[in-house]
Amino acid sequence: MFNKRIFFSSALLASLMIGGWNQVSIAAAADGKALFEANCAVCHSMQPPPKSAPPVLGIALHYRKAFGTDRKAAIKHMVAFMQKPEATHSKLEPAAITRFGLMPAMTLSVNDLRTVSAWLWDQNDPKFTLPGNCK
Ligand code: HEC
Repeated sequence: MFNKRIFFSSALLASLMIGGWNQVSIAAAADGKALFEANCAVCHSMQPPPKSAPPVLGIALHYRKAFGTDRKAAIKHMVAFMQKPEATHSKLEPAAITRFGLMPAMTLSVNDLRTVSAWLWDQNDPKFTLPGNCK
């Protein structure tokens, strides 16, 4: 199989050589998306209709509401949640867990969890409104 990691590492190296630090976040964003597709997309769609979990745009919106502009704290919370999901730590509406059940713990490395969480936070779309199915 084509190795995504090697591809993204070379992309990172190439962008460092060509564009300096500016480009690094672009490569990191691509890595976050790849991690999402490989580990999360089986349950999470990007937007409604949901698969077996709340869609990414809804999660991103709830995390903006909970953390405001504190991206770092939001990412830290998501990483901790994914390592050990607990209903009392959820930033979604309680009905989301009633509807979908609690998310299983993820066994990715902390670095990968941080990368995919940062990517998820950045997906927030100001035009997105919650469908209101989890009230
Ligand atoms: C087996 C299905 C499944 C997989 C795989 C999965 N999730 Fe989830 N996830 C859920 C469900 C169900 C919920 C809603 C209930 C909850 O919050 O625990 C959820 C909720 C979340 C939340 C909100 C947590 C909160 O505050 O309640 C985040 C963030 C999240 N997922 C991110 C991810 C990321 C990133 C991945 C991949 C690394 C992933 N999930 C993989 C099922 C899954």
